[in-house]
Amino acid sequence: MSEAHNEHESLIKTPKQLIAAVIAGFLVPIVIIVLLVNYVGNNALTGAGSSAMTEKAIAERIAPVAHVEVKDANAPRVYQTGEQLYKAVCAACHASGVAGAPKVGSTEDWAPRIKPGYDDMLKIALAGKGGMPARGGTNPDDVTDYEIGRAIVYMANASGGKLQEPAEPAAPASGAAAASGAAAPAAASGADAGSAAAAAAAMASLKTAAPAAASAGGNVDAGKKLYDTVCMACHAAGVAGAPKFGDKAAWAPRIATGIETLHNAALKGLNAMPPKGGAANASDDDVKAAVDYMVSAAK
Ligand code: HEC
Ligand code: HEC
Repeated sequence: MSEAHNEHESLIKTPKQLIAAVIAGFLVPIVIIVLLVNYVGNNALTGAGSSAMTEKAIAERIAPVAHVEVKDANAPRVYQTGEQLYKAVCAACHASGVAGAPKVGSTEDWAPRIKPGYDDMLKIALAGKGGMPARGGTNPDDVTDYEIGRAIVYMANASGGKLQEPAEPAAPASGAAAASGAAAPAAASGADAGSAAAAAAAMASLKTAAPAAASAGGNVDAGKKLYDTVCMACHAAGVAGAPKFGDKAAWAPRIATGIETLHNAALKGLNAMPPKGGAANASDDDVKAAVDYMVSAAK
């Protein structure tokens, strides 16, 4: 027997000691683990930065998201009146009769449309027809059928009609309808929102007009043709701040920047003016010809 063996034997000499050693072998790590867990847990509640996990702090951090959802779900729907929607959107075309729109105030324009009835007018306004974009170019999430109906009644009654206000729909059932409640008043108020909607509406109406213009070819009349089918939608009445056709005062400062500048602006777009006036199919030459036509009419 070596000395090392003797020494080893001297540590655990009896079965009792063996059991004690085994139990200690299990207990010590467990106690350490328990103490560690306790230490870490305690630290999170009392140490620096511990507020990060409190209920209040968590609520504050998720508040922006939670707030929006809660607000949308409970927001009472505020509908635009017919007059508000008309002024914000429909007037862009219906005030002056752009692109053949029945002019508000003209009994002659409206009588034949009022005659078939409100339901027919609503159907056309919702689906669109000719130069009239569906819903006047608005999004159903922003403007409800009810509000379109109110605008129609406002317009028709300002033009010799005697229509009843449509009935207000029941409280919105879906989340989407509730969410639109928050968006609609914002869209309705402010000249910027109005003119943006008008420009969008005018562009929507171009989708039907553009192909006709594109096939016009590069002849001398191409400029006038493109103007009549596309550019006129905004430039005839000055929608969304477009310089009005033939308006020397509006065009003079623009003409002064040079024809190259104007050609480029028409091709690439400028603020509310979409590239090529929205007629993506039109050739560059035709667009330039339309600019030349508009410029020559304003000299
Ligand atoms: C981009 C121009 C434009 C905008 C914006 C516009 N309209 Fe029109 N609207 C037209 C044109 C053009 C017509 C004539 C369509 C036709 O008969 O070919 C028309 C026709 C109508 C008619 C008559 C339908 C019928 O019975 O013949 C109603 C109603 C109408 N629009 C409602 C509206 C309402 C409501 C809005 C606003 C939410 C609006 N429009 C916005 C261009 C526009
Ligand atoms: C959707 C409405 C809209 C249509 C359609 C439209 N325009 Fe414009 N246009 C505008 C607006 C708005 C401006 C003024 C932009 C500005 O100065 O902020 C403008 C400005 C212009 C200018 C002056 C650019 C400058 O540098 O001052 C030219 C030229 C022009 N348009 C040509 C055209 C031609 C050509 C077409 C048809 C192919 C057309 N526009 C169709 C809205 C339109």
